Amino acid sequence: MSGHGEAIAMVARSGAALRGVAEVPGDKSISHRALILGALSVGETRVSGLLEGQDVLDTARAMRAFGAEVVRQGPGAWSVRGVGVGGFAEPADVIDCGNSGTGVRLIMGCMATSPITATFTGDASLRKRPMGRVTVPLALFGAEAYGRRGGRLPMTLVGAADPVPVRYTTPVPSAQVKSAVLLAGLNAPGETVVIEREPTRDHTERMLRGFGAQLEIEDLPEGRLIRLRGQPELRAQSVAVPRDPSSAAFPVCAALIVPKSDILVPGVSQNPTRNGLFTTLVEMGADISFETPREEGGEPVADLRVRFSNLRGIEVPPRRAASMIDEYPVLAVVAACAEGRTVMRGVRELRVKESDRIDAMARGLEACGVRVEEDEDTLIVYGLGAGGVPGGATCATHIDHRIAMSFLVLGLASKLPIRVDDGSPIATSFPAFEALMAGLGADIARVQR
Ligand code: S3P
Repeated sequence: MSGHGEAIAMVARSGAALRGVAEVPGDKSISHRALILGALSVGETRVSGLLEGQDVLDTARAMRAFGAEVVRQGPGAWSVRGVGVGGFAEPADVIDCGNSGTGVRLIMGCMATSPITATFTGDASLRKRPMGRVTVPLALFGAEAYGRRGGRLPMTLVGAADPVPVRYTTPVPSAQVKSAVLLAGLNAPGETVVIEREPTRDHTERMLRGFGAQLEIEDLPEGRLIRLRGQPELRAQSVAVPRDPSSAAFPVCAALIVPKSDILVPGVSQNPTRNGLFTTLVEMGADISFETPREEGGEPVADLRVRFSNLRGIEVPPRRAASMIDEYPVLAVVAACAEGRTVMRGVRELRVKESDRIDAMARGLEACGVRVEEDEDTLIVYGLGAGGVPGGATCATHIDHRIAMSFLVLGLASKLPIRVDDGSPIATSFPAFEALMAGLGADIARVQR
C-alpha cells in the first residue's frame, strides 16, 4: 500500500556456512497474472501457491475494486470469481498499487478498453516511475490518461468506449508493456499485435492461452510477434503458481559466496525468459547442479543444488539482460566476491525499477569498499575475490526490496557487517526472506532502535 510504513533497519554478518533446503515462495509475475486473468474470466479460478507479498495483495484488492470476488481460502490458496472480458465495473475509489509497477501497468492495460474511469496511485517509489510507456500504446486503443508531469502517478485513465485493435512494437524490452497491450487487446475487436525486439518474460502469453485466448507467436528477424484475437471468453482455470526464480536468486547467490555452503533450492523455474542469472553464474564458475528437471504449473523447473564456489568475473551478454533483469543487483553482489571484473552492459532499464538500481548498487558497493564504474546503460564491478569485500557500511535501499536483499546477502560474506537502512520493502515480494535465510543458518537481524 502507498504508505510503505516504518523503516526497518537490518544487519547481516558473516558466520556459519549455509546449509539446508530453501523453499522460496510463489512467482510474483505469475501471481499477479493469476489474479488478473481470473478476474477477467467467467467462473471460479482457483490459485494455489500464490505469493502473499504486498504487491500481489494490492493487486487482489484492485481486482475486487473492479468487481471480481477474490477470496483467500488458506495459505497461498485463493479463489477468484471473475467478471469476464469487458466486465470490469468502475471502481468507487482510487486504486492504490503500493510498490508494484507490474500491478499498476497490467491493471491499466485491462481496464483501458472498457468504458470506465479509474485513478491509480502508489507509494513514493511507484509515484516516481514512468507510466508513459503503457499510456502511449493504450492511447492507440482510444484510452486517455491524465497524470502528473513525466507520466507519473497519481494518474486517471479513461477507458475507450469503442476500442480499436492495435499493432504495436514495444520501444523498450518490457514484459509489463507487452502485457498491458495484450490485456487491453482482450476487449478490442479484431486482432491486436505486439512485436518485441528482444523477448521478455512470456507468462502473459502462456497464461492467456491457458485461460482460452487465441494467441499466435512467431519469431521473425525483427523480433517476436504476438497476435491476439480480441473479445474471447476466458474460462476460469486452476493455477498452480511455481516458485519464483527471482526470489531463489538470493539464497542461491548467498550459498555461492559464503564459504562451505551447500544448499538445495527446489522447483526453480528454468523458463528461458527468466533463467539468465543461472546461466551467468555457471559461466562465472558456480557449482550449481540442475536436478530432476520437470514441469510445474506449466513452467519448466529444476531443483538447484548450490555449493560455495570460487568465481571469476565475466562479460554478461547484453542480449541476456531481459531474462535476468531483476537479478542484476544480486549479480553485482556476487561479482564483488569474484576474481576480476564483471561487465554488465545493456542494463539501462535498471534505472526505472523500484529504484535506480544501477545507482543504488554502485553507491552501496562503493560504501562497502568495492570499486565500480557505471554509465547510463552499464555497471562494471571490480571483484575482490572470495572473502575480499570489506563491508562495514550502511546501504540505502530506496524503497527497493531487491536492493535490500542484495546488500544483506553481501553482508553474509563481507569482513565487517553490512546494514541496510530499510528492509521493510522485502515484504513486497519475499515476506519469508528473514525466516528462510535464518533456516539456512544466515545471521540477518533487525536492528533494535
Ligand atoms: C515484470 C516485468 C519486469 C520485471 C518486474 C516484473 C512482469 O518489468 O522487472 O519485476 O511481471 O511483467 P519490466 O516489464 O518493466 O521490464
